[in-house]
Amino acid sequence: MKLRTKLIIVFTAVMILPTIFTSVAMHTFAPERVNEIQQVYLTAVFLTTALLIYWIYRSISVPLAKLQKAARNIREGNLDFEIRQETDDEIGQLCQDFEEMRLRLKANAEEKVAYDRENKELISNISHDLKTPITAIKGYVEGIMDGVADTPEKMDRYIKTIYNKANEMDLLINELTLYSKIDTNRIPYNFATISAKDYFEDCAEDLHMELEAKGVEFAYRNWMEEDCKVIVDPEQLRRVINNIVSNSLKYVDKPQTRITMEIKDVGDFVQVEMGDNGKGIAAKDLPYIFDRFYRTDASRNSSKGGSGIGLSIVKKIVEEHGGNIWAASEEGTGTTMYFVIRKYQEVPIDE
Ligand SMILES: Nc1ncnc2c1ncn2[C@@H]1O[C@H](COP(=O)(O)OP(=O)(O)O)[C@@H](O)[C@H]1O
Ligand SMILES: [Mg+2]
Repeated sequence: MKLRTKLIIVFTAVMILPTIFTSVAMHTFAPERVNEIQQVYLTAVFLTTALLIYWIYRSISVPLAKLQKAARNIREGNLDFEIRQETDDEIGQLCQDFEEMRLRLKANAEEKVAYDRENKELISNISHDLKTPITAIKGYVEGIMDGVADTPEKMDRYIKTIYNKANEMDLLINELTLYSKIDTNRIPYNFATISAKDYFEDCAEDLHMELEAKGVEFAYRNWMEEDCKVIVDPEQLRRVINNIVSNSLKYVDKPQTRITMEIKDVGDFVQVEMGDNGKGIAAKDLPYIFDRFYRTDASRNSSKGGSGIGLSIVKKIVEEHGGNIWAASEEGTGTTMYFVIRKYQEVPIDE
């Protein structure tokens, strides 16, 4: 019952009851007993008023005490409690609003904790990944300074290693810069409406040349119709494909690497499937490979460098194209990456 209704009931009861009682008493009893009856009546009115006021007081004070306790909890940073809405009056509504505010604050606090933890992880990962090549570079430079590289061949090997390690660092910093740009939406996308068939045809041609030079078998199929168009940033989408292919080349364990690329029409989307015959990804790792800095234990323990950023960049770019990316893999057999990008659909203009 609304607080206003309750107050109207109290007011009406207190105003009307004496009038009714007095008129009933005047008509029923002898005039000399009226005084006595009025006394009883006054006591009754007093009791009724007191009871009604107590009723109102309870309906306000109990939830108010709860709200007060809740406010104190929030002030002290404790958000793990619940304010139940027990009545459907204004105070009950206030309790409900308070509960919603508590839930919102709790969600924000949890988000902040997760964000802080991610940031700490990010810093520790970056420091770790940069420290590894720097330690190696320092070691080799000290070797040269101490005269350990005493033959031209040794010197050559040392310098090549230093160069490779510096390149590794360069790559990592570039990936990090790109990731941070993508993460904060500072990367300008140059979208263009192009034919899906032609675009992937060009990609495949480039890939074919690159992979052939590396002795990799490359199979390619394009099922798209000529007139199907997609809105893409050609450069960024190339980055997606290059990243996936570089993983396939990196995580291969067979003497002959085989990479496949298939482009399919799946209704509103164009689906790209990139397969390899590499070592595969364990089912327990598969849901996480697109997370920032996630690397499987197997790849962490291998000598192959990497930061675990590549696929998170890939995912971001695909999502910016209104698409989605996922993977299927079998350990020992290989991995297939699937991604879809939305087709461009011409909206007919009404005359
Ligand atoms: N084609 C693949 N075959 C096997 N494992 C892969 C493949 N692609 C990705 N992975 C796994 O997913 C992880 C994340 O990939 P990525 O984000 O590109 O990071 P990075 O290559 O720097 O380790 C890799 O460390 C690897 O364990
Ligand atoms: Mg990678």
